[in-house]
Amino acid sequence: MKKLFLLIAVFFLGFVLIACEETDDDTITIGANIYTYGDNFMNGVVRPELERYAEELGIELDIVDSENDQGKLNDQVDTFIARGVDALAINLVDPAAARTIIEKAQTADIPLVLFNKEATEEGVMDIYDAVWYVGTDSAEAGVIQGQMMVSDWEANPDWDLNGDGKVQYVLLKGEPGHPDAEARTLESVKAFTDAGIEVEELALQASTTWNTGDAKNTMDSWLTADWDDDDVEKDIELVISNNDGMAFGAVTSMKEADTMLPIYGVDALAQALDMIGAGELNGTVLNDGVNQARATLDLALNVAQGNDITEGTDWVVRDDGTKAVRVAYVAVTEENYEDFQ
Ligand code: GAL
Ligand code: CA
Repeated sequence: MKKLFLLIAVFFLGFVLIACEETDDDTITIGANIYTYGDNFMNGVVRPELERYAEELGIELDIVDSENDQGKLNDQVDTFIARGVDALAINLVDPAAARTIIEKAQTADIPLVLFNKEATEEGVMDIYDAVWYVGTDSAEAGVIQGQMMVSDWEANPDWDLNGDGKVQYVLLKGEPGHPDAEARTLESVKAFTDAGIEVEELALQASTTWNTGDAKNTMDSWLTADWDDDDVEKDIELVISNNDGMAFGAVTSMKEADTMLPIYGVDALAQALDMIGAGELNGTVLNDGVNQARATLDLALNVAQGNDITEGTDWVVRDDGTKAVRVAYVAVTEENYEDFQ
């Protein structure tokens, strides 16, 4: 009798659980992407935190790889919309293509949080009231990296290999037209000229996916190039890299050539911190992908639930027309790298 009762109880419990699951449409579903899983920072830092934090928040996160193809991302967004997601969290492939994505979201009346690649078209954030941006202040990384390089340059007179008082540098840029790549390039070099130090760009290399392998090949060729002017001897004296992923390639190349030059990155990836400890990288700048991922989901969840966009969080949305939450960068040197490991 007892056994039968137990059996019936278990049966009903199971039934109730299944029924709950089927009618539980309170779960918020977010359609998200990474512009390419081939990007060290986006795939190695931002994606894992999006996945972990979504679980913590009880969000159902549907995340896809856009394979560095904006056309593919457009289709993925159509699919998310057709599936009726509650919000979109989108990492543009092409920062100039924001309008297409914003208009899709607007037509479908689905809130949209863009993250990591800021829209470059002026005024485009105003066409839809339910679109926001989560990222950084692009210029800030360049300013911080520039300050580190200037103070190290001033402390190490022997870095001026030809003694002409100028910094002969090469620069690994990242994606042309990407606000981070453009602003970092300008600001890091400007730090020298602002400090009254002359600079000479020997070469600059762009790479749409901020890629380690490309940077390695580029550095291989830079290290074997002859930079001398007719009568002036010139060598590479500084390697500026707009992210750590490309710096890794350059360091590998320098190790192979047995020529270690001063080199700086951005992102503060785990491997970069180890390299600072090993004396292979002079500095980097923390790009706080963990907090960018959290802000992205906090905003998306709030708006999907009909709350105020920053309700229950410490995020601040700028009211300067950018509708952006900007997470701060932090300088990372051999003095403090251990704090970030
Ligand atoms: C930057 C980051 C780069 C790359 C890029 C992709 O913020 O520093 O390493 O991930 O975003 O958009
Ligand atoms: Ca020099």
